[in-house]
Amino acid sequence: MVVFPSLFIAAAVVLLGVRVVHAGSFTKVAGVCTVYASVDASDDAPAILDAFGQCQEDSTIILADPLYHIESVMNTTGLRNVVVDLRGTLLWGTNITYWRANGLELGYLNMTTAWMFGGENVVFRGHNIGTFDGNGQLWYDLTNGVSNLPGRPIGLMITNTTNSLFTGVRFVQSQFWTMAIKNSEDVLLENIYINSTSSSRAPARNTDGVDTFFSNRITFRNWTVAGGDDNISMKANSTNILIQDSVFHGGLGVAIGSIGQYPGQYETIENVTAERVLCLGTRYSGYIKTWTGVQQNFPPNGGGGGLGFAKNITFRDFTLVNVTDEVARITQCTSFSGATGGCDTSLFQISDVTWGPMVGNVKSNTLAQLQCSAAAPCPGIEFVGFEEISTAGNRSISCSHIQGPLGFACTSGS
Ligand SMILES: *[C@@H]1O[C@H](CO)[C@@H](O)[C@H](O)[C@H]1NC(C)=O
Ligand SMILES: *[C@@H]1O[C@H](CO)[C@@H](O)[C@H](O)[C@H]1NC(C)=O
Ligand SMILES: *[C@@H]1O[C@H](CO)[C@@H](O)[C@H](O)[C@H]1NC(C)=O
Ligand SMILES: *[C@@H]1O[C@H](CO)[C@@H](O)[C@H](O)[C@H]1NC(C)=O
Ligand SMILES: *[C@@H]1O[C@H](CO)[C@@H](O)[C@H](O)[C@H]1NC(C)=O
Ligand SMILES: *[C@@H]1O[C@H](CO)[C@@H](O)[C@H](O)[C@H]1NC(C)=O
Ligand SMILES: *[C@@H]1O[C@H](CO)[C@@H](O)[C@H](O)[C@H]1NC(C)=O
Ligand SMILES: *[C@@H]1O[C@H](CO)[C@@H](O)[C@H](O)[C@H]1NC(C)=O
Ligand SMILES: *[C@@H]1O[C@H](CO)[C@@H](O)[C@H](O)[C@H]1NC(C)=O
Ligand SMILES: *[C@@H]1O[C@H](CO)[C@@H](O)[C@H](O)[C@H]1NC(C)=O
Ligand SMILES: *[C@@H]1O[C@H](CO)[C@@H](O)[C@H](O)[C@H]1NC(C)=O
Ligand SMILES: *[C@@H]1O[C@H](CO)[C@@H](O)[C@H](O)[C@H]1NC(C)=O
Repeated sequence: MVVFPSLFIAAAVVLLGVRVVHAGSFTKVAGVCTVYASVDASDDAPAILDAFGQCQEDSTIILADPLYHIESVMNTTGLRNVVVDLRGTLLWGTNITYWRANGLELGYLNMTTAWMFGGENVVFRGHNIGTFDGNGQLWYDLTNGVSNLPGRPIGLMITNTTNSLFTGVRFVQSQFWTMAIKNSEDVLLENIYINSTSSSRAPARNTDGVDTFFSNRITFRNWTVAGGDDNISMKANSTNILIQDSVFHGGLGVAIGSIGQYPGQYETIENVTAERVLCLGTRYSGYIKTWTGVQQNFPPNGGGGGLGFAKNITFRDFTLVNVTDEVARITQCTSFSGATGGCDTSLFQISDVTWGPMVGNVKSNTLAQLQCSAAAPCPGIEFVGFEEISTAGNRSISCSHIQGPLGFACTSGS
């Protein structure tokens, strides 16, 4: 006899009365856990957590209702051979007091997350409709442009994850950074749409697309990132990172850093390639940013004095449309808000960075601003095929402590 799972569930519902409740619920049938949203808009997180608990291994978890309310934090780590199928929207709740007090620790930068997710051989499918909605407007209005409010949660933290795929997932109105990837290896995230756009005068600040930490062999393919401050950013101990076939609307472009925030701590970024990227009105194409060598205040908003290196970074085959500031940027001047100076103090070593070939236009007259620290000048900085980039003026390239520039000459500094 063939029993369709949905009929089977319907029968179970009728016979066993499993869904007479108003709260969220789930069923488990032959290794498939299906989560049903509450009918009274109450918190669906407990039902989702139960489903992940029951379908932690060799299973499928289906979230197919149009809307699930998430009013409490979720920790679903240690999955094995699991497919998560999201066809509806997960809408995070508005109780800011709750979220600020209960976020799960990122374990870095004193930041927290609303959902900690991880496992081995996990596939998270969104079919280009499954959506994370962080209800971010509340957070944009609350912070009103101030950086890194304590307890403002990262939407999704992917942690301790290997051999996994995230595909066709949408993220709108993220609370804070959309995603963080930490302690993970061999993860592909493709066909991802991110848009955090403020509808008030308060900017959607710090709604980064994704930040990586302590991760190796991570690929981002076919991402669309729009609004706010969004960017893809590599931080402490990110290696062999590939970004391909993506579009950035506004924001800063592809970021390496900021890094060097923890005094005396040794962190690295190595082997990063970003290719076939379209930058629409972004500030830069790719940029690199470290803290100064002088510690001022504490993370997440302060810091400095970190050690380590970033090397073998390539930004190639970009198309630039109305990039606002310059194509290439390096700064080792990042410091606590309001602090100045110390730009020549960082010992963090940047080397072997290539920009180009690229086509398109920059709205300013500047091709590049490359500011390396006197304490750690940058070798191996190269521009390839910049001839086809047009600017609004004299194509200036200002330099500080660039050792043996390749394929370009500094128009000021050296
Ligand atoms: C918001 O969360 C706080 C802390 O968890 C709780 O005390 C309060 O009752 C919640 N408020 C509402 C409206 O649910
Ligand atoms: C998340 O769950 C895992 C596994 O149960 C546990 O080891 C970890 O401490 C939890 N993390 C947090 C931040 O609660
Ligand atoms: C982390 O942030 C909390 C506020 O959320 C603050 O009380 C605490 O002092 C911070 N810890 C560090 C080490 O900065
Ligand atoms: C990471 O996951 C592996 C297997 O999935 C598990 O054995 C290990 O305990 C996890 N580590 C942490 C820190 O959660
Ligand atoms: C790229 O991702 C978008 C969703 O953001 C999707 O609609 C589109 O089909 C994807 N393109 C390819 C070539 O898969
Ligand atoms: C981002 O969202 C805003 C507001 O919903 C919308 O106007 C804009 O077109 C979206 N951008 C993209 C690239 O989808
Ligand atoms: C993303 O852009 C914002 C806006 O300036 C910035 O605060 C944030 O640090 C950037 N991401 C990273 C990690 O560089
Ligand atoms: C980062 O990687 C470097 C080089 O592999 C290593 O020396 C350092 O301990 C790592 N840092 C942390 C904080 O794990
Ligand atoms: C630099 O990284 C790329 C991958 O991003 C890799 O193919 C290449 O071999 C690396 N080059 C060196 C010199 O390590
Ligand atoms: C960077 O890429 C090169 C060439 O593929 C490889 O030899 C080296 O081990 C990579 N570095 C790291 C940290 O994986
Ligand atoms: C780029 O900027 C110019 C001048 O401001 C404007 O006319 C043009 O429409 C913009 N292009 C795009 C694709 O936004
Ligand atoms: C390029 O133009 C800017 C202002 O438009 C000016 O400050 C700068 O000195 C010029 N650089 C060169 C090399 O002429």
